[in-house]
Amino acid sequence: MIQVHLGHVFHLAGRPGVGDSAAALVTLPDGALVVDDDGRIVFCGARGELPARFGSVETVDHRPGFLLPGFVDTHIHFPQTYAGDSYGGGQLLEWLDQCIFPAESRLAEPEFAQQAAVEFCDRRIAAGTTAAMVFGSAFPHAQDALFSETRRRGLRMVSGRGIQTVGPDSAAALITSEEDALRLTAAEIDKWHAADTGDVSTALLHVAIVPRFAPAVTPETLKNLGDLYDSVRDRGVYVHSHLNENNRPGTGEVDTVKQSYQVDSYLDTYDGKFLPGSSAGGTSLLGRRTILAHCVHCQDAELERMAQTGTSISHCPTSQLFLGSGTMPWRRTVESGVNISAGTDFGAGDEWLIPRVLGDAFKVHISEEGDAGVSMHPAEMLFVGTLGGARALDMEDRFGNFDVGKEADFVVVDPSRTPALANSVIGGVRSTDGEMARDQTLFALLMGIRESSIAQVYVQGRRVHG
Ligand code: GUN
Ligand code: ZN
Repeated sequence: MIQVHLGHVFHLAGRPGVGDSAAALVTLPDGALVVDDDGRIVFCGARGELPARFGSVETVDHRPGFLLPGFVDTHIHFPQTYAGDSYGGGQLLEWLDQCIFPAESRLAEPEFAQQAAVEFCDRRIAAGTTAAMVFGSAFPHAQDALFSETRRRGLRMVSGRGIQTVGPDSAAALITSEEDALRLTAAEIDKWHAADTGDVSTALLHVAIVPRFAPAVTPETLKNLGDLYDSVRDRGVYVHSHLNENNRPGTGEVDTVKQSYQVDSYLDTYDGKFLPGSSAGGTSLLGRRTILAHCVHCQDAELERMAQTGTSISHCPTSQLFLGSGTMPWRRTVESGVNISAGTDFGAGDEWLIPRVLGDAFKVHISEEGDAGVSMHPAEMLFVGTLGGARALDMEDRFGNFDVGKEADFVVVDPSRTPALANSVIGGVRSTDGEMARDQTLFALLMGIRESSIAQVYVQGRRVHG
């Protein structure tokens, strides 16, 4: 059934990069979004310009609510659904050992895994996250539960089991042999990649190869996964991992990788150059369907290589604050040309809501030292939370904004459900300059949205329910 949705529309039209997103910002205070039977956008414009042929179709009036593209979370951990705000008395590696490996091991129990899958879908819907790159559980039955539940709810997802072949005792339940790491990953691809429609170009479900991070695997694992990726790349399979997250002197992840692999850069381990001296040992895992989370402590050459290969960054400032990891330098990273998207990194991030991540991004980047400090434009914030995420998932042609022809993934934001947001949207002073007033409203919206503000969530034009 064709539907007209009325509300105040914000989106980024066309194919801007993060740097030119302000020029692509569209605001339609009295806007209309028309979605056809197939869940595609057939019109996005001012209500007063609605073509006559849509005059008598079913209308859903969300006014005075806002219509935004669905949020895209490009880094979130399913097996940490119950591990938010875990205290481990240290930074990344201590937290993994003390809190996370034990928490993830609980999913060995099938009933608990099923319960986690239901809860994980509920939380995504409540947060308006219509598409996500989901770091999966080590356990195939838990991944089955996640894919099944995600399909039942009608959400978009790319996910893959977290691969670990080495690690501390606390991770014993998550670690497999080299053979099983390869076998289980290949089996997940065969079982779930585009399982919903049988065609990657229409599917909501996709599979990724997910080595947890270089310290959790071996050169042999990376070699095997490179070979596997080579054989499935043209089927649209993804790769996901962490990169350059935490650099605590002596005990940090970055030093650990450089010392154990004897490589010049952390990225080399994912780029086929995982042998001592960064010499080639296998095939690269980088490419336009690869997303690396964090990238806080990258060398220029690493950023350049990611940009060159089309690899995207998932920027996770909420998590970086929680684990004391520092922050991805905004200006330098943007200037490198690499695509930047946003990730909650739940449970290291303690928010499910992408706008909360965007708010933290604004705060940390305005606080960067000296010339590095920037006041992010609200259009840049919207970019990383929507269109940049769709690009990171290599599905920009399908969703991420309201261009005609795209699949209609959107959220309805009702400020009246969140008094503090209503105050700043309705009562905030606005510039007499129209463009500045537009930016101020979008900023107030993105900073002030809470889960309570998300009234409705749509994927492919269909309403999804929590
Ligand atoms: N690096 C390896 N595993 C993890 C994880 O679960 N969370 C975060 N934030 N970083 C990681
Ligand atoms: Zn993570």
